[in-house]
Amino acid sequence: RFDSIPMAAPDAILGISEAFAADARAEKMNLSVGVYKDAQGVTPVMKCVKAAEQKLLETEQTKSYLPIDGLPDYRHAVREMLLGDEFPADRAAVVQTPGGTGALRVAGDFLATQCAPTRVFLPNPTWANHSAIMRAAGLGVETYSYLGADRRSLDFEAMIADLSEKTRPGDAVLLHACCHNPTGVDPTAAQWQQIANLLATRGLIPLLDFAYQGFGDGLEADAAGLRTVLEHCDEAIVCSSYSKNFGLYSERVGAVTLIAGSPAATATALSQLKIVVRANYSNPPRHGGSIVATVLADPELTRMWKAELEEYRLRITRLRELFVAGMKEQPGAPDFSFLLNQKGMFSYSGLTAMQADELRTQHGVYVVGSGRINVAGINEQKVDWLCRAVADVM
Ligand code: LMR
Repeated sequence: RFDSIPMAAPDAILGISEAFAADARAEKMNLSVGVYKDAQGVTPVMKCVKAAEQKLLETEQTKSYLPIDGLPDYRHAVREMLLGDEFPADRAAVVQTPGGTGALRVAGDFLATQCAPTRVFLPNPTWANHSAIMRAAGLGVETYSYLGADRRSLDFEAMIADLSEKTRPGDAVLLHACCHNPTGVDPTAAQWQQIANLLATRGLIPLLDFAYQGFGDGLEADAAGLRTVLEHCDEAIVCSSYSKNFGLYSERVGAVTLIAGSPAATATALSQLKIVVRANYSNPPRHGGSIVATVLADPELTRMWKAELEEYRLRITRLRELFVAGMKEQPGAPDFSFLLNQKGMFSYSGLTAMQADELRTQHGVYVVGSGRINVAGINEQKVDWLCRAVADVM
């Protein structure tokens, strides 16, 4: 009976935003969910998005269903963003999905049904939802070492040892293509070479989660790890999201891109991806994908988009600097300079679960229990206030 169902725990990330919304205090700051905020504390609609929506309002002819694999112009744009314009298009099947989460679930279902018995190896730590998605798809979930004992740098030796010793050919290995969530710690270019070589020689399936393209070192630079993997491996799956780099969070815009060894294998894999989609959500929503396709088909809107995204990226770097400088002013507080080497929206602050709890209850600052902070959510007017609060609980 329904009345015997136990209450589920709140979501590790979105549950914190629910608690934040219910907090009546005037002075509060939400550094939990990975959402960019501007100087006014607002998650803005990009100007290029507004302009594309205006264009769509005037030109859109229908709201009829999209094909199962999504809007052709969107799929084309995604392929170029991820792989560049030289990669053979007939070896990359792009399927439009509802967000990066939708992409991961489609990828998981595909691996479970077409590549069974597959296990997926996740970095430790990783995005709180990865394991739930892969388990829901029916995959075995394992972990490989990623963050060092200092909780601020990559333990590359341990990572390579785990991937060499624990995996079997045919296992999938999830890698964050850039801006590792939750730590902000990415491999170097030379380390990507070694990882890619290992994946290829051990016959592992690269599964790249690419949700933050443009937030690390720039749009093209952030794709370097993925492209290195593709120089070594002829098969891979990429799950990308346009929630962050187009600010289209609630429109649910993502894609799963499957790279296969030949055009024939790509076409076959695409047919199976479509079976997964049809049994899951049938076909993707139109609006967000249309926005991305409209922006990227128009040189002026593309220029606007790149400029806006670059502004976001540079602002996050500035926020990192402001926070690190602010913490230096706090007597006895730990040195946070390590934040300056990390990429993207997130960093592990070193706050324990208890300190995170205290930060919320005593000061109205909400961070994820693991101590992950969303740097992109810091309000620069309140950096001093934030630093005092962090110093107080540490
Ligand atoms: C995050 O990690 O905060 C984002 O990816 C949002 C989410 O869905 O958890």
